Amino acid sequence: MLKGKTVVVGVCGGIAAYKSVEIVSRLKKLNADVHVIMTENATKFVQPLTFRSLSHNPVLVDMFEEPKVWDIQHISLAEKAELIVVAPATANIIGKVASGIADDMLSTTIIAADCPVLFVPAMNFRMYENPVVQRNINTLTDLGYIFMEPESGQMACGTSGKGRLPSPEAIVNYINDLLAKSKDYSDMKVLITAGPTREAIDPVRFITNPSSGKMGYAIAAAACERGASVRLISGPVNLEKPCGVETVYVTRAMEMYNEVMKVYKNYDVLIMVAAVADYRCAQIADRKIKKSDDNLTIELVRNPDIAAELGKVKGDRILVGFSAETDNLLKNASGKLISKNMDMIVANDVTMEGAGFGADTNVVKLIKRGGNIVDLPVMSKKDVAHRILDEILNIKNQNEIDRT
Ligand code: PMT
Repeated sequence: MLKGKTVVVGVCGGIAAYKSVEIVSRLKKLNADVHVIMTENATKFVQPLTFRSLSHNPVLVDMFEEPKVWDIQHISLAEKAELIVVAPATANIIGKVASGIADDMLSTTIIAADCPVLFVPAMNFRMYENPVVQRNINTLTDLGYIFMEPESGQMACGTSGKGRLPSPEAIVNYINDLLAKSKDYSDMKVLITAGPTREAIDPVRFITNPSSGKMGYAIAAAACERGASVRLISGPVNLEKPCGVETVYVTRAMEMYNEVMKVYKNYDVLIMVAAVADYRCAQIADRKIKKSDDNLTIELVRNPDIAAELGKVKGDRILVGFSAETDNLLKNASGKLISKNMDMIVANDVTMEGAGFGADTNVVKLIKRGGNIVDLPVMSKKDVAHRILDEILNIKNQNEIDRT
């Protein structure tokens, strides 16, 4: 199944390193070209010879060892790899990559690579929950690195908690999925809006909403990983621009509308994730409004509805919207799907635990034209992004069948 795919497996120094042996063996059985890079500490747990025998390739540990062939090995492997999997990923390697430190063969290869990198953390649960480790995981996730969650259960140190390496079978299935998806958007151009908009009241005040941009940025990163050419039109957020994504920043809904209408014709898929202000102030005061004893009334006027305007002109393009709701989720979302002429709407009950604004996870239902509903459990926003992209491909394939 993985014939012709080059996978680099990074093994770090943790007791779970023994499970990497089975990961390498399973990848090899699927015909992947597997190259193992071990940290110095990993060699205290498992001998490089074990990985060499299973992968049928030299195992790299030392940056300065005399190479067998003339090659700058961390660069050539970084270029060759279609996926780098770090399993087990210790707090140390996660921290190093998050800080841009490249001081051994594994960290140097990861930092030189432009393929997807999957980290599978395994460590004591207190280490995993440590805010510094969680901050580093969030930093890397925002930059487009992929994380597979550790399992909960009995740990080697005798305690119990979240931090166990998932089974090699589960990890290899995850790798398989990632590689299968890796290029399925390569002939597609995707336009995404994300984040909130801000409507000025005066030079120091504005109307906005709590959208963090995480959901839209996750879709942009996922589409880019899958080979799409992606343009992200973002409201004001505190996130790093996703790697490889052309990102344009706007503030007001009118600016977002103008940017979208300027370029939408060049895109095959239009995904409207932004929480756009429906109204703006009729007049923006040019000086700070001074308070008085009277009440203040601000007149608001309608902003254009970007998704609805696209619905009128989209032609064969696939239009996907989001619907953040606090009640009547299916009815309200389905109404928007039809009235804005969308192909699919992502219904988002923002009152649910782990869903909606600002969260790292989301809980959504994907409603397609014709009423078909895919009900997803709580998932990371990146996983939700991939499920949305999977459904868009299904819609594209169905449209092609309908047209022939
Ligand atoms: O950014 P995060 O913190 O990760 O949070 C994600 C999210 C909650 C913002 C996201 O999952 C979400 O639900 N986005 C849509 C929010 C919304 O307010 O939807 P709406 O019901 O107002 O609009 C419906 C659709 O029309 C949306 O696709 C919206 O982008 C679009 N729209 C709405 C108004 C407008 N003037 N122009 C638009 O294009």
